[in-house]
Amino acid sequence: MAEKVKKIGVLTSGGDGPGMNAAIRSATRFGLHYGVEMVGVMRGYQGILDEDFVPLNHRSVSNTINRGGTILKTARSKEFATDEGKKKAAEILHRYGIDSLIVIGGDGSYQGAKRLYELHGIPTIGLPGTIDNDINGTDQTIGCATAINTALESIDKIRDTAQSMERIFVVEVMGNKSGYIAMEVAIAAGAEDVIIPERPFDYDAMHKEILKGNSKGKISYIIIVAEGSGMASVISENITRQTGLETRYVVLGHVQRGGVPSGPDRILGTRLGASAVELLLNGVYGKAVGVLEDEINVIDLKDASRRTHNMEERYKLLKILT
Ligand code: F6P
Repeated sequence: MAEKVKKIGVLTSGGDGPGMNAAIRSATRFGLHYGVEMVGVMRGYQGILDEDFVPLNHRSVSNTINRGGTILKTARSKEFATDEGKKKAAEILHRYGIDSLIVIGGDGSYQGAKRLYELHGIPTIGLPGTIDNDINGTDQTIGCATAINTALESIDKIRDTAQSMERIFVVEVMGNKSGYIAMEVAIAAGAEDVIIPERPFDYDAMHKEILKGNSKGKISYIIIVAEGSGMASVISENITRQTGLETRYVVLGHVQRGGVPSGPDRILGTRLGASAVELLLNGVYGKAVGVLEDEINVIDLKDASRRTHNMEERYKLLKILT
């Protein structure tokens, strides 16, 4: 029988996302409720190697549910990525009596959690914390809903100037290799087109469409591009070259990662933080927890790889509604 978990470490790793604090808060208070000692690891996996641990009590997570970013800070650790780094991390965790770990992060962070469990027997649970919504086993990742709303706020403003000055705008959004944010934002902003890694894009057809629209008096366009599909600057230059029409580009960048977490992100983080503790207390390790069809869903970390979304239905919808 698995030994009872007594001291749980919590870390956030990779890109931060709004709602991570809700997960930290929930895991902390849920663990304390069940008599478990809770420890925060600063700056992701690097914090294990630096032995940078902070005790987490009820008060240390007060007033955090509404805050963006992560109170534990985050990083991408090159040292931890090596086999040696993971071995050292496992030794440090043993030395500090941290007998299990909750890892809040994306695909790369999950890999670390999986290896710590497989190679060194550290009980780990992964929580999907990334704005990209690109992880298996969950409908949404923590931070994505807020990032979409944040991007929309900016795009709505861009629309005002695009219409007033009769210009074409290419807006680049985040998402790493995923076009999820781009597609959702394009639909919700009423954009004219979207360029995403999940589907081939016919640039010639877009240029022709712009020219055809232009000949009928349609002058302003908003085209969303996922960062994984190319640079807005290049796409915008090409549009001008091919159509002769004035084009501007905007890269929304890290703005999308910040801000007050939306209700859905707070709730998702809260449910998943508690679930992670519950799984560890029940001796369930090496898993990723998400919410699928409104229910808590637990899968092996080894199956929680990068997810791609079927975008055809959404693209068709976008183009018909344009
Ligand atoms: O994974 C989250 C994310 O914001 C991606 O959308 C983006 O590609 C990446 O992180 C940016 O990373 P960094 O903050 O290191 O520039």
